[in-house]
Amino acid sequence: MDKAKLIIDDQTHELDIVVGTEGERAIDISNLRTETGLITSDSGFKSTGSTRSAITFLDGENGVLRYRGYPIEQLAEKSSFLEVAYLLIYGDLPNATELENFTYGVTRHTLIHEDMKKFYEGYPAKAHPMGILASMISALSTFYPEAQKSDLSPKEVDITVKRLIAKIATISAWSYKKSMGLPIMYPQNRLSYCGNFLHMMFALPTEDYEVNPVIEKALNTLLILHADHEQNCSTSTVRMAGSSHASLYAAISSGVCALWGPLHGGANQEVIEMLEKIQAEGGDVKKMVEKAKDKESSFRLMGFGHRVYKNFDPRAKIIKEVCDEVLDDLGIDDPLLDIAKSLEEVALSDSYFVDRKLYPNVDFYSGILYRAMGIPTEMFTVMFSMGRLPGWIAQWKEMRDNNEPISRPRQVYVGANERPYVDLKNRK
Ligand code: ACO
Repeated sequence: MDKAKLIIDDQTHELDIVVGTEGERAIDISNLRTETGLITSDSGFKSTGSTRSAITFLDGENGVLRYRGYPIEQLAEKSSFLEVAYLLIYGDLPNATELENFTYGVTRHTLIHEDMKKFYEGYPAKAHPMGILASMISALSTFYPEAQKSDLSPKEVDITVKRLIAKIATISAWSYKKSMGLPIMYPQNRLSYCGNFLHMMFALPTEDYEVNPVIEKALNTLLILHADHEQNCSTSTVRMAGSSHASLYAAISSGVCALWGPLHGGANQEVIEMLEKIQAEGGDVKKMVEKAKDKESSFRLMGFGHRVYKNFDPRAKIIKEVCDEVLDDLGIDDPLLDIAKSLEEVALSDSYFVDRKLYPNVDFYSGILYRAMGIPTEMFTVMFSMGRLPGWIAQWKEMRDNNEPISRPRQVYVGANERPYVDLKNRK
């Protein structure tokens, strides 16, 4: 095994170098503190690997993304979301019987307990659907308390997995109906996963609703593209929360909350709001680019940049093509798409963005696509959560199957040294 040498105060320590199946190398520092008394410091985990995972391979320099070895481009073109979910969670593409059983299992659990319907009445009309989603997923654990056991059997894990994938679509669509003050629609198990979701979102009891196959296909692609992305902020949150042996429901709810932020999944909503702002202010993209470059301002071009991709985001490339196709097919002429294209052009020829390797990420075009499908802006991050759910589950399962220890990073303390308590009357 290759070794790394670390010299501290003239003492040399040898550390193992771990090599992944794609040749990635990492220094194993797990015994560093016991051997040297030192810890490493890496705010934001920019150079820290938190686990060894066999789920997703990502090469940010070359724009490569593979789930369980399969290139994202092939999965996006040929697969279905439930097939990809199975692949991520169980490790291999399902055969015909396995896929049929898995699809049947998910389809049988699309209803949510009637008592949970009442929860929707308690949320304010303007409640953000991500807040509803996180709390409803957490609430699911109260309906299935057996899922809180630390030592779940594979069968008990499987049923929780199917419940979550089935119910997230129902919970999400109902939160939209709630925000619109419209009647909820019950799941239709004759429809595909994506078709059923679209039906619950847009059908009304007063009229017939036909799922548009173009939109159904585009949604399938979008969910696949979002299905996993190795140890990002929300996935690490799921693994970290789950490492305390909190239930899968609790861990996924934590992941939803982490995804909500504008620097992560919340960026797709912010992209559209930014494009709308540019449009409202006369369409001057250069002004926005200048503002993003200004270090006095905290403003960033939403949908640009990525912690890992430093060349291009392969998901953005696929979405851009799907976006063009769908808009064409539906005959939609969206001025925001033109603004997005000129913004991309201006930013990509500007040395600020080029030097920092800031390229459009997955969120830059997904918002435009969701808009074309009739999905409201506030629901974008919910859509992302639906897509990311199989990845979160797969990562949680891997962490538990590997018996990983509870996550508990250390810190370098930089606060006050010991000082005596001061009585209130003596304080300045
Ligand atoms: N606009 C303007 N400047 C940017 C942007 C941006 N979108 N992103 C990064 N920068 C600049 C930073 O100011 C910094 O400049 P400096 O070196 O002069 O200080 C440099 O580029 C590096 O940025 P960091 O914040 O250090 O990069 P990091 O890897 O920590 O952040 C992140 C990545 C959070 C995605 C960042 O690029 C960003 O905020 N982008 C906008 C939000 C966004 O689109 N998020 C979605 C990410 S994809 C996803 O989660 C699914």
